[in-house]
Amino acid sequence: MHLRASLLIFSAAGAARALSFADDTSVKSSAQSIATGLLAFYPPSSNTPGAPIGLFPPPNDWWQAGAAWSALAEYARLTGDAGLNSVISTALAAQAGPNADFRPANQSSNETNFAQSLWALSALAADRALPPNPSLSYLSAAKTVAAQQAARWDMSSCGGGLNTSIAHPGATKDTLSLGYFFLLHAALALHTRDAAYAAWASRAYDWGLSAGLVTPAGNVFDFADAGNNCSSASTSRVQWSAGAGAFLWGAAAMYNLTFSQTWVTRTAAHLATVNATFFQAQSTTTLSDPACGGSCSMPQRAYKGLLAKALVRVADLAPFAHDQAQNLLVAATRSVVRGCGEGVEAGGKAVTCAVGGRTGVGEQVFALELTLGLVQGRLTLPGAAASRTAAGTAVPTATTKKGGGVRRGVGVGVLAVCLVGGVVVVGL
Ligand SMILES: *[C@@H]1O[C@H](CO)[C@@H](O)[C@H](O)[C@H]1NC(C)=O
Ligand SMILES: *[C@@H]1O[C@H](CO)[C@@H](O)[C@H](O)[C@H]1NC(C)=O
Ligand SMILES: *[C@@H]1O[C@H](CO)[C@@H](O)[C@H](O)[C@H]1NC(C)=O
Ligand SMILES: *[C@@H]1O[C@H](CO)[C@@H](O)[C@H](O)[C@H]1NC(C)=O
Ligand SMILES: *[C@@H]1O[C@H](CO)[C@@H](O)[C@H](O)[C@H]1NC(C)=O
Ligand SMILES: *[C@@H]1O[C@H](CO)[C@@H](O)[C@H](O)[C@H]1NC(C)=O
Repeated sequence: MHLRASLLIFSAAGAARALSFADDTSVKSSAQSIATGLLAFYPPSSNTPGAPIGLFPPPNDWWQAGAAWSALAEYARLTGDAGLNSVISTALAAQAGPNADFRPANQSSNETNFAQSLWALSALAADRALPPNPSLSYLSAAKTVAAQQAARWDMSSCGGGLNTSIAHPGATKDTLSLGYFFLLHAALALHTRDAAYAAWASRAYDWGLSAGLVTPAGNVFDFADAGNNCSSASTSRVQWSAGAGAFLWGAAAMYNLTFSQTWVTRTAAHLATVNATFFQAQSTTTLSDPACGGSCSMPQRAYKGLLAKALVRVADLAPFAHDQAQNLLVAATRSVVRGCGEGVEAGGKAVTCAVGGRTGVGEQVFALELTLGLVQGRLTLPGAAASRTAAGTAVPTATTKKGGGVRRGVGVGVLAVCLVGGVVVVGL
């Protein structure tokens, strides 16, 4: 195993300063601190004059705001904390635009199908999590986007697919647009049980296979060249975590809807490829996009959050894939814990999380999504498991484990991941 997790575990009261993942209460309070830290990047939350509602400052891409509201809606659902509901609902209503379809005038010139469907997925997350919003029907907005995109399914080349850009079609059909179209339809199929959405999800996936953008082995390649009718020779072989996440989560949703062996096989293939492609770096992060290496742009650095969310959803939707998703998430979560700052009190004070030495909206969303995996309750960090399953009965014991082979919590009643003098004692 390349991820040898060893934790310095102790129960001293003084260790409570750091983010703790010992039990439901401390996990939720860590999530609250990270969510608060995310909103620290959002100018309207500090009443900055003229700051656009729903947007994070450039060069954060428009879709990154959609990903942030989606994470925060999921935060509200999983923790039961309604304190952010109004900031989330105001943001979604503002960016849904006058037609409630996530095509606001500011974005119309260069909006991608990918970005529009990502916002639609935030609306769907809000529909699960938030009370009805008089300014926007979340479910209707998500359905409107799905219908618009289905109408844009493009038969003029390649036998199908979606153009990358909505208003200015160029020659590319990208897998972010295809993948989030697939995922949006799969998620709507689960949410509404309307078979028409499942049919579109299957059609999109099958077209991805036929165009060579998705492979039976679970690879998800960046884009095809419609100018060459998506010929194999002109298809990119670059892989991004964001696209991989869409197909992984969508496949798990289709499995959960159909229980079919086809979707078991596809989910497993995507999971194996995600491991092989995005979890093999020996550097500072355990989930990374090798395609951009050390020079990822700000939006590229935010892709990881989308894959993290997908892994968390897979652990919930596809029990057969739970253990593998959990193993991957533990690795990523440890790297995030390491970056979430020293001396931070849990309990809602803003925490800023560094990932690979960088902080920002994308990094913060990544940290929040991973922490929500623990809040969801189907995922645990080794060591924390015992106290969460046997809360109140385990005896607090100082325990240090090294060199892997972390056994599930023998006598660990209180666990704190502790930062000492800026050096973190979470071994990897
Ligand atoms: C659109 O962009 C303008 C100029 O940057 C900004 O003032 C306005 O608040 C934005 N509107 C929305 C809804 O994002
Ligand atoms: C898209 O257009 C908007 C305004 O029309 C601009 O603010 C934004 O930077 C553009 N994004 C890209 C990636 O070109
Ligand atoms: C997709 O792009 C092609 C090439 O630019 C264009 O001919 C076609 O009309 C576009 N399809 C849609 C649905 O916009
Ligand atoms: C383009 O590709 C599609 C799908 O493979 C195929 O059906 C169609 O005949 C091709 N068109 C041309 C002009 O080669
Ligand atoms: C579908 O997902 C739910 C969680 O949302 C889970 O409880 C259930 O076991 C899953 N169904 C199957 C068939 O795995
Ligand atoms: C990920 O891949 C590595 C290297 O092949 C393997 O050792 C490990 O068991 C895999 N992890 C999971 C969770 O599948």
